Order: sequence, then structure tokens, then C-alpha cells
Amino acid sequence: MSTGPTTITLRRPDDMHLHVRDGEMMRAVLPFTAARFARALIMPNLKPPVTSTRQALEYRRRILQALPAGVRFEPLMTLYLTDRTEPAEADRARAGGGILGFKLYPAGATTHSDAGVTDIRRVDAVLSRMEETGLVLQVHGEVADPDVDIFEREARFIDTVLSPLAARFPRLRIVFEHISTRAAVQFVLCAREGIAATVTPQHLLMNRNALFAGGLRPHHYCLPVLKSEADRESLLAAVAGGNRRFFLGTDSAPHGRAAKEAACGCAGIFSAHAALELYAEAFEAVGGLERLEPFACEHGADFYGLARNSGQIRLIKKPWEVPASLPCGADRLVPLRSGERVAWQVADEPPGATPAGAAGR
Ligand code: NCD
Ligand code: ZN
Repeated sequence: MSTGPTTITLRRPDDMHLHVRDGEMMRAVLPFTAARFARALIMPNLKPPVTSTRQALEYRRRILQALPAGVRFEPLMTLYLTDRTEPAEADRARAGGGILGFKLYPAGATTHSDAGVTDIRRVDAVLSRMEETGLVLQVHGEVADPDVDIFEREARFIDTVLSPLAARFPRLRIVFEHISTRAAVQFVLCAREGIAATVTPQHLLMNRNALFAGGLRPHHYCLPVLKSEADRESLLAAVAGGNRRFFLGTDSAPHGRAAKEAACGCAGIFSAHAALELYAEAFEAVGGLERLEPFACEHGADFYGLARNSGQIRLIKKPWEVPASLPCGADRLVPLRSGERVAWQVADEPPGATPAGAAGR
């Protein structure tokens, strides 16, 4: 029997899709990401949303202030696109420094998306400015139509919105975020230049059975919702195949326990506490561990035209048990794999990376 490696050393990675929220929640979750990633692209779906360059730069400052002492981490920002976003905002964003683009949330598609875009044609003028200035459009790729089957919303989005959009703006750089289907993999593989996708740990490690394993499992509910095993296999093959169009974006999306364990629970899976470790599991499962570094540390930076990070992070194959819950202000947060094991761990986690009280229920 051959055994795989027990340690892997990577260049410090980038999380190209992350929700850190604000205030107490941000202080609770940010250390986990900063202990693993050198940079992350911070999602703008706060309440109210981060729609202007000024707001994004203020939010960026709050994130930097919330970092544990001595921890180096760079927040990369994106603005929330609305029907009313002016083309001049793209120019301001470009000049602002550290703002990589705009996030498109189809109105009503997901958590805090009500201020999103109601019809893509309404933002044509902004998209055109973005295309000219080189800003990137990050796309939540699901139609919001409640009459469309929830498992079909990504595929429908490709056909009715994304594919025509990519053709109408042939030089616009687009990241299809948190792809969840074989249809999305196929689209990205065959798409024109300038189109890439992020893939989350949950979509690589779980299929939709995980939503109902032994009962209804709210902590496995996110959007796009988990899909079939065939979809999961297709995502795994895509990332382990090493194609440069696929890169790491956790979509770690914390919600307090009460908001998840409710009659109408929020969408979002918190994975920042073990993000890189979970990806290592996924890559290892298909014999593709050597592809983890390019996926996590190179493809995203290269797509965005950023220098690759310096410094390293080491993962050891040593199982550990994820706490049942984590402190989050007065509330608690239930992390992915709560009370279960993760096969890999980060060596030498810096002090302050794990907030006190992590083990409690
Ligand atoms: C995200 C959130 O909670 O902000 N939820 C999720 O299920 N992924 C929003 C999003 O990225 O769709
Ligand atoms: Zn997200």
C-alpha cells in the first residue's frame, strides 16, 4: 500500500471569495482566515451593502483594524453592483487602490442580495466601463426566479445571463463564483479568454445528500445549494486537472447559530476555521495533492494580475476534531465539520489565530 505525504508546504494562499461581515462577527471570524491566507477578496454584501469606493475603503480599514496584533493579511475589495451603480464608480474604484471589481448579485438570489441587479441590461454602462478599465466582474451565477427548480438555477443562469453577457462584453473579465455543477465546469472550460471560476470546499467535499443526512442539516445549507454526486465529481476533476481557470474561493459565510437553526434558516457555510485543510482533503481524495498549490496560491493571483504571495504555510496530515461551535460575540457559530474530524492541520498556527472559548458548545 502506498501512503501519501504527511506534510505539504505551500506558498501562502489567497481566498478569492470570502464573507467576513463586520463588527463582532468580523472579529470572531477574521483570525481564522488571516492565519491561513495572505489575502482574501472580501464580499460586499453587508447590510447596507458596500456599493461605493468610499465605503469599500472604510470597510477595508475596519478589517485591518480587526486583525490580531502582528498578523499580516491583505483584504482585497469588491463593490456591490446595483441597478443604480454609476459608470463613474468604476473609475473611482479603479483609482481607489485594492479594489478588484464589482460583485453581481442577481436581486433575490442569495443572502443580502435584495439590493442586487434586477436585470443585467440595466448595468450595461458600468460593465462597459469595467471592460475598458480592467475591473473584474464577480458573479453569483444563479437565476433568482422562484419558479426555476433550485438545482437548475446555475445552469439556467449560464444560458440566459452569463453566456450572452460574456459575448456582449468580449473583453470583460469575469469570475463565475462558487460553481456547483458540471454545467458550470463545462462552461468555464469552453469559455473565451478572461473567464475563470472559484470553487468552495463544501462543493468539492459534499453532495446534496449531506443536506438530509440523518435529518435536516441547516449547517450544510448554502447557495448555490449542494448538487449531485456527478456534479461534485466534475468539480473535483476540474480542480485536480490543474486548469488555470479554476481557483480557490471558500465562500466561508458565517451566520449565528440561531439564524441557521431556524424555521427559515440562512444560507451560508462557515469554513474559515479549516479552509485550506478541507481543500487538502478534497485534493488528496483524488490523488491530486500536487495541484493544491497552483489552485490555492497561483491561479487566482495570476487571473487578477496580482503578484503571487511570498512566505509559506505548512500542512500536516494529523487529524483533529473541529469544535462543536465557536464563539461569535454573544452568539455561537457552528463550523463546517462541527464535532467531526479534519484530516489535515496547519503547522505552527500563529498565536491569536484561534479565539479563546473555541471548544465550548
Ligand atoms: C452567502 C452569505 O451568507 O453571505 N451565503 C451563501 O450561502 N453562500 C451569500 C452568497 O455568497 O451567496
Ligand atoms: Zn459568497
